[in-house]
Amino acid sequence: MKLSHLSETLIGSEIVKLGGEIRDRIRKGEHIYNFTVGDFNPQIFPIPKELEDEIVEAYRQRFTNYPPGEGSLELREAVSRFAKDYQGLEYNTDEILIASGGRPLIYALFRAICDKGDKVIYAVPSWNNNHYVHFVEGKHVVVEAKAENNFMPTADDLRPHISNAVFIALCSPQNPTGTTFRKEELERICAMVVEENKRRTDTEKKLYVMFDQMYWQLTYDGIQHYDPVTLNPEMRPYTIYIDAISKAFASTGVRVGWSLGPAAILNKMKAILSHVGAWAPMAEQKALTRFLANKPAIDAYLVHFRSELEERLRRIYEGFVQLKEQGYSVEAVAPEAAIYLTIKIDLVGKKTANGDELKTQSDVTSYLLQEASLAVVPFYAFGAAKTSPWYRLSVGTCKKEEIDEMLQKLGTALMQLR
Ligand SMILES: Cc1ncc(COP(=O)(O)O)c(C=O)c1O
Repeated sequence: MKLSHLSETLIGSEIVKLGGEIRDRIRKGEHIYNFTVGDFNPQIFPIPKELEDEIVEAYRQRFTNYPPGEGSLELREAVSRFAKDYQGLEYNTDEILIASGGRPLIYALFRAICDKGDKVIYAVPSWNNNHYVHFVEGKHVVVEAKAENNFMPTADDLRPHISNAVFIALCSPQNPTGTTFRKEELERICAMVVEENKRRTDTEKKLYVMFDQMYWQLTYDGIQHYDPVTLNPEMRPYTIYIDAISKAFASTGVRVGWSLGPAAILNKMKAILSHVGAWAPMAEQKALTRFLANKPAIDAYLVHFRSELEERLRRIYEGFVQLKEQGYSVEAVAPEAAIYLTIKIDLVGKKTANGDELKTQSDVTSYLLQEASLAVVPFYAFGAAKTSPWYRLSVGTCKKEEIDEMLQKLGTALMQLR
């Protein structure tokens, strides 16, 4: 069967594939600590009750027709107030585009800016940028982020690549690392982008920045979220924000997201999405409009949600610190944000109790699953080298009562290695 070049060359999400395999094993009765998915177990982390009630009510009131392509005016007004109140960002309703979550906005943004062969810069490990660049047949300019920078790209990492590039994909707090930009580093990146754009003539395409801040409400322990336009107002013409309720309100299946950015770009994204039809459902738009006006409910939800996520991240992090102190080849980056912990499990070359050698990182991943029932996503699924010993551990489905037994099982599995 001959199909399009795009469909024949598109690689499915590695994470979704891995998650599927693990779910299969769970269905067959295995007990697995499944920390692979960037999603929530709704039994542990339900959406805000007030939002749930508003959605049910909106369907009862029959808000079931097509929404306007750019999102309902009242929701864009609510998002405008929300961005101002919570982040100090001032965007008018014509500088806000609503869609069914972050993904369609990212897709439309790549489509609106990048032509075939255009240089797109993104760091690895990072979430799905490789796939979006593939969609637009862009030229992948991949920057390897370093462990010493908590796997966040730096201005120095990006600088050698920016001449002729049209797009930089940034994400903070970052999936998969759960780490964030420091103020000074993001300032340096912004200054570099502004300078590069001043250098370009009006007939040249500018250098745009996608700033994906899906997790920005979820920061811990004094970590502050910074964004390009707040740090450097000259970034405004070149910055397009991606945001949604998917992660901040555990609402991955509810499907409402928004972009903030220059009206001319958002209009093109809207035109692209009008053919895809990836609008947020009318009832959900109605419900979110009402929910975003309920500041006490938002604040109460976020306080609780953040503390539950942070407790899990911190306990697992401390467990890894202890294992390291006991002499095992593991490490973890102190949690900063989101629902992710970056861990290192460096066991290539060790021998199992049966005398089998763990020859590759993929052998290590299988060993963890077999012996510790621990399922985590290797950084290579996010574009890092296949040999990278780093992993993403997601706590969105983590039961607190399982943390100690998981760490104990991991300790036993590590102890058995020679
Ligand atoms: C950094 C980042 N951006 C965007 C998305 C997409 O979110 P949505 O579910 O709203 O499409 C995700 C989801 O995993 C993500 O981690």
